[in-house]
Amino acid sequence: TPVPPFDLVIFGAGGDLALRKLFPALAQRNREGVLPGESRVLAVVRKEEDVEGLPKQIAQRLHEDGIPKDQIEPFLRRLTMVLLDAVKPETYKALKTALGDSDRVRSFYLSTPPDLFIPICENLAGADILTPTSRVILEKPLGRDLASARQINDAVARILPESRTYRIDHYLGKETVQNLLVLRFANTLFERSWSSRDIDHVQITVAETVGLEQRAGYYDKAGHMRDMVQNHLMQLLTLFAIEPPNMLEAGAVRDEKIKVLKALRPIVGPDVQRYTVRGQYGPGQIDGQRVRGYAEELGHGSNTETFVAIRCELDSWRWAGVPIYLRTGKRMAQRYSEIVVTFKPVPHSIFGNGTCDRLDANRLFIRLQPNDGVQLQLMMKVPGSGRLKIVPRQLDLRYSTAFDERTPDAYERLLTDVIRGDQTLFMHRDEVEQAWAWVDPIIAGWQDYTPHPHRYAAGSWGPSQAIGLIERDARSWADPDLV
Ligand code: BG6
Repeated sequence: TPVPPFDLVIFGAGGDLALRKLFPALAQRNREGVLPGESRVLAVVRKEEDVEGLPKQIAQRLHEDGIPKDQIEPFLRRLTMVLLDAVKPETYKALKTALGDSDRVRSFYLSTPPDLFIPICENLAGADILTPTSRVILEKPLGRDLASARQINDAVARILPESRTYRIDHYLGKETVQNLLVLRFANTLFERSWSSRDIDHVQITVAETVGLEQRAGYYDKAGHMRDMVQNHLMQLLTLFAIEPPNMLEAGAVRDEKIKVLKALRPIVGPDVQRYTVRGQYGPGQIDGQRVRGYAEELGHGSNTETFVAIRCELDSWRWAGVPIYLRTGKRMAQRYSEIVVTFKPVPHSIFGNGTCDRLDANRLFIRLQPNDGVQLQLMMKVPGSGRLKIVPRQLDLRYSTAFDERTPDAYERLLTDVIRGDQTLFMHRDEVEQAWAWVDPIIAGWQDYTPHPHRYAAGSWGPSQAIGLIERDARSWADPDLV
């Protein structure tokens, strides 16, 4: 479907996300000629000086992103600056005037802290700015627990129907994440063995090398569980595990995702200590550079976790008995995100002693970043007429070599999906609430069982307890350098 003419209003336009991701994504789409002629981007700012300053900052950012000068100007011409204070209803007049009475699709991107979601929606309705096709985009985090998420969802639902509420999780816009569905449902090879019958266990790692960046205020209150696990990791797990939807359509996909989330076995009480690990980075080294610990970056002590590992299980027909290990953290040894599927070993080895150290199980690596692509580890015979020797080797399908096309940033896809009215890659309220319902007892359990996160050195793979978590089951974390 082509993108219809639109007015996209960005609240929090001066914020980090808008500058780093939203404007560059829109400029890129503009450059590709996807945005229809008269469409506009309305940037809402609270400070007078931003009205002049922000367009300059945007131009600078686009320049740094490598967008040529003659492409920056046409994008800036689409920009309208709007001065408004999100919590002051009387200031919405400026937005109403700027929007005029056009019949373009109106989308409101709330790139703000979640406590502003309700006032903004109410003020938009109060100022009579919403049209029958208007939609609202809610950036994560959607609340800080089940209760606050429900409160937001209920309040938004009084103003806009679910079909026009877009809860964004940018991981769903990543190419490799979308490719998960294609890999599973466009190939018979994997789907047949995608269950406890053939799969031994699954690992999902999202490791970052960055630390606190400029987000202390938000991150120290949220912690890594709310920032990464409740959304990105759980979305990856869900897409990995869903039953085949009848078609690639928002309702069908979301229904299947909710079933997976409901099948996640709760981790409560003493199990929190047994099946989860929370950590916080201390000083260390990344790429040969000394970096400070979390508390030093913050300027004071804190019990906020910057690392989480969890052993979880799905109580479902397909997945019973297959452990899924999640691991994610800041300031880890390498930036990489990956799903590793370890298949069961062959039932009986016909090869005699001495042919190989051991017959490694087949492994499928679904690499999200960097070097996105898919690798399959197989056992192969080493060429030669001497004694039979068998070693593991990879079938390697990288996006960069398999395709000439540029890999777009996740937001490029998601922003135009909103305008085109496609909710497939957005979260239904039930998904978000179900994810909180699973996460809340873990966070509560931490207060009782691990109020102080385990330390790990910046530049390591997290606290030793996270290694213990998987080694206790006689398994180990996959080596990222294999791929
Ligand atoms: C965001 C988190 O949602 O995702 C950040 O708030 C994190 O803390 C980021 O750094 C990671 O995204 P990506 O696309 O760089 O993996």
